[in-house]
This record gives sequence, structure tokens and C-alpha cells, in this order.
Amino acid sequence: MPSLIIVGTQFGDEGKGKIVDYLAETASAVVRFQGGNNAGHTVKVGQRTYKFHLLPSGIVKKKKCFLSPGVVIDPVVLLQELKALKGAGKNVVIDPRCTVIMPYHVELDILFEKHKGKKKIGTTNKGIGPAYGDKVSRQGIRIEDLLDKKMLAEKLNILYPIRKKMIEDLFGGKMKYSNNKLLNDYLKLGGLLKPMVKDTSFELSELLKKKKLVIFEGAQGTFLDNSFGTYPYVTSSHTLASNAFTGSGVTCIKNTKVIGVAKAYTTRVGEGNFVSEIKGELGDYIRKVGHEFGTTTGRPRRIGWLDLVLLRTSKRLNGLDEIALTKLDTLSGLKEIKICIAYKIGNKKVSEVPAFTKDLMNAEPVYKTMKGFTLNGKEKTFGQLPEEAKAFVKFIEKELKIKISMIGTGPERGQLITKK
Ligand code: GDP
Ligand code: IMO
Ligand code: MG
Repeated sequence: MPSLIIVGTQFGDEGKGKIVDYLAETASAVVRFQGGNNAGHTVKVGQRTYKFHLLPSGIVKKKKCFLSPGVVIDPVVLLQELKALKGAGKNVVIDPRCTVIMPYHVELDILFEKHKGKKKIGTTNKGIGPAYGDKVSRQGIRIEDLLDKKMLAEKLNILYPIRKKMIEDLFGGKMKYSNNKLLNDYLKLGGLLKPMVKDTSFELSELLKKKKLVIFEGAQGTFLDNSFGTYPYVTSSHTLASNAFTGSGVTCIKNTKVIGVAKAYTTRVGEGNFVSEIKGELGDYIRKVGHEFGTTTGRPRRIGWLDLVLLRTSKRLNGLDEIALTKLDTLSGLKEIKICIAYKIGNKKVSEVPAFTKDLMNAEPVYKTMKGFTLNGKEKTFGQLPEEAKAFVKFIEKELKIKISMIGTGPERGQLITKK
């Protein structure tokens, strides 16, 4: 059985959580391989709505869930999530190599954003950038350090005075913890996590050897990738499917299916380029119908039409095999629907996202307008969809030369049409 990599094809919040929950039925493991608690993945089952920031969505179906070395972990947030799901801890494995988000990372994230003023990125303020910065510059604290007083004290003795100076002398903020308090508090947190800390790379490799289904659950989206997204308005990790291997330390490259999750329109939280953005009343209407407010920060999401330029590039960057198209129901009732099929940059028409930021900033959307449709909420098969909805789906498949294998018709677990 091939492994599955599920990635966001746009700017995040495509509905990855729901798709992973659906696919997890026959899985042996679900793995987060990048990002941190900037993510917010929703799974809705009956009256219960789960919102996961760190735990993989497979936890709802009681699958073994892995946090791999590519993930940055705020232990306070992780322990809160575990507490809310009693007994979940026995299904969670955390790699000792994961980087820890410390309180000073959160503080620095907020202060950097303030300093940037109008040029701010609009981060989730969860300390993601500063934590990954420390990881890459080899100043990170790892989960394993929280299990070893001597190691943590040695690291903090070097790092603490520098971070305090940055926060207080550079930014005029306040380091809220003393070195000693940080040491003691984080050792306590480490103690609580200890039973779950194991070599995830090794355990996952063993599962793959036994041909078990492993699902890699991407966080954020393709255009928030640190290299290929709309830099600098991106996150600090690599969100592309290829990072599933680097982030988790397994090699199943030859036997993997990549599923890209795409919303039937586009949303974005935070600042940055958005070619197909819809401003005004129509945007407000779609935001309201689609409940487009951030899962992590509650901020209103910016709304735009489906952008096939983004999806074409996403297909290439991720090596997508299939697309899961979510939230088709949100477009229900609109008279007409637009799809961005190309960008006009000066007098050139392009079909992929340009590499130069300047070009992207000057890009104008070229739209195809399609007839709208109204869903009755009872459609269970592709055949039962109105002709105009089928035409919308088929147009995307033809333009992108890719199969749409799943279609979301509502937030509930069962509201998903699978298509051959
Ligand atoms: P993720 O970060 O990619 O997992 O997505 P989020 O959970 O942040 O945001 C997606 C939102 O859309 C959540 O509130 C989901 O419950 C909801 N959702 C997912 N699929 C569908 C769908 O097909 N239709 C509707 N109406 N809502 C959906
Ligand atoms: P999921 O996994 C949507 C956005 C932030 C900001 C930028 C950088 O739920 O799809 P960061 O805090 O990462 O430094 O913020 O990235 N962002 C997301 N937007 N969904 C997410 O995750 C996001 N994670 C980060 O809004 O623009
Ligand atoms: Mg989300």
C-alpha cells in the first residue's frame, strides 16, 4: 500500500484535517512533519468539533500519531491538547529531536511584528519564526533537552542572556521568566512528555517495512512554503510534499501518493500577495457562508476566487497525484463563479506562479466565468451533483490534467463525495 502525503495547495486552511480524518480509517500511523501550533486542523464529527494545532488529525480515529523532528513544539500547547483528549497520550509518539518553542520565541515573534509595523507578516504570534530560526542557526532547544537538567541548563546559560538582551534592550519588551524559572518549568514539562518521547524515524521505518499505511499530514499550504511561497509572507518551514521525508526521516519516495487539498475558492490569513482576491460585499458573503475565520487566531480570512495558476504550480512543486476539492457547498447559490486561469503580467500571459516577487506583485488575474449551481445538501455521488457543479469540477481537472478524487460538500465527516 502506498503511503499518503496530504498537503495544502494554496495558503493553508484548505480542509486538510477533514481529509486526513477520512483517509485515516485504514492507516496505522499519521505523522506531522513540519510546522507547529500555527496550524489549526478541524475535524467535525456529529456535535463535536476538534481543532488540532499539534496533534495529527488521525488522533480522532485513535491512530498512532507521530510528531517528527521537522515539527516545532510548544509543550504547553501540546499538553493542553492531550488533556482535552483523555487517554490520547498512549497513541502519541514525539521525537526527541523536535525543536521546542520557548516563551522567548513567542515574545520575539510578537515584537518583530510590531517592529515591522505596516510591513508585518501577520504571523500567528506563536513563536514559529524565531523557533525555526534558532533550529537552523543551531541555537535550538530540543525535546530531549527537556529530559536532561544538565543539557538544558548548559543551553539556557548561553541562550538566556542573549534572548533577554534582544527582548529588553533591542525591542523594549520584557523577558517574563528568569533563567531559573525557565529551567525548572521546562524540565517539568519535559517530565510530562517523557513517556511519549521515542525515535519516530525508526518506528515509522518499521511500519513502512511491514507495508502499513502511513499518512503524512502537511500543515499550512504550498504558498506559505519558506522557499517557494510568497516570500517573505510565508511561514518558516517547508510545506511541500518532499519535506515529508526530510521532516520525518523516512524514505518511501518510490511508494507514495501525494494528495493536494484545494478549496473550491481561495483564502489567506495574514498579509501577502493574493492575485484572485475578492474585496467588498461578495468576499464578505463568502466569508460568512464558509465560516472563514482562522482556526488558530480567529482572524477573518481574506477571500478570493479559485486560482489555477497557484494550483498548477502546486501540482508541479508537490508532484500531486490527485486533488481533494473542499467546500464546494460554500459556492452554492452564487449566480456565477470565476476561476483564475492565468496571470497577465505587463503584456505577457503566464500560467505558473512567477519566481520574481516583482512579477507577482504586478500580476492581474485572467478569469473564466462559469455558471453557478445550487446544492441540496443530499448529494452523495458525483452523478448527483448539478450539471453546473460537475462542469466546474471537470474544468479544473482538464485545465490541471489531474484527477479530483474527493469533493467536500460540508464540514461533517460524511460530507465528502469520492469520485473514480
Ligand atoms: P486545515 O487547516 O487545512 O485543516 O483547514 P481548517 O480546519 O483550518 O479550515 C477548514 C474549515 O473548513 C474547517 O472549519 C472545516 O470544518 C471546514 N470544512 C472542511 N471541508 C469542508 C467542506 O467541504 N465544506 C464546508 N462547508 N466546510 C468544510
Ligand atoms: P494550517 O495548517 C493558514 C500563516 C499566518 C501568516 C504566515 C506566517 O491550519 O493550514 P507563522 O505564524 O507561521 O510565522 O505565520 O503563515 N499561517 C497559516 N495560514 N493556515 C495555517 O495553517 C497557517 N499557519 C501559518 O497567518 O500569514
Ligand atoms: Mg487551518
